[in-house]
Amino acid sequence: MKEQTLAAVFLDELRDTYDAERQLTRALPKVAKSASSEEFREAITMHLEETKGQVQRLESVFESIGQKARGKKCEGMQGLIGEAQQLMEEHDKGPVLDAALIAAAQKVEHYEIAAYGSLCAWAEALGYHDAVDLLKETLEEEKTADEKLTEVAASGVNEEALVGAGAPE
Ligand SMILES: [Fe+2]
Repeated sequence: MKEQTLAAVFLDELRDTYDAERQLTRALPKVAKSASSEEFREAITMHLEETKGQVQRLESVFESIGQKARGKKCEGMQGLIGEAQQLMEEHDKGPVLDAALIAAAQKVEHYEIAAYGSLCAWAEALGYHDAVDLLKETLEEEKTADEKLTEVAASGVNEEALVGAGAPE
């Protein structure tokens, strides 16, 4: 098997993450449209804008290491988005769908937090100082987005989802 350098693994993960963020910019508007809770819709809309900024920030990371920005299909994100799409097909708009979509969105955030955490650590090890700064900025945004979603769920969406809930089918 071909032995890869850490620099190559970093670049590979960077491309994967670039693709993941771009997939997300296409998927989030649909999630916002399906949201009933105004707070949830606002959180998603805000994170959509942030995600567009993160795509640009990743382009700066590519530039900082002298590479052309290029994506590599992120199967993980595709799977997570696919599951969210399935939820939107299976449920009518309402608090139950909101609760399920918040969980799906938090899975996305945790996936991204893991990716950016590793990218930060590798950039640090590789001495890519500019990349470290850029990646850390996004890592913090993802953590804040995750916390915001927890807040939205706790501030009424889960409670409302219980109202009128029957036994699961
Ligand atoms: Fe992101």
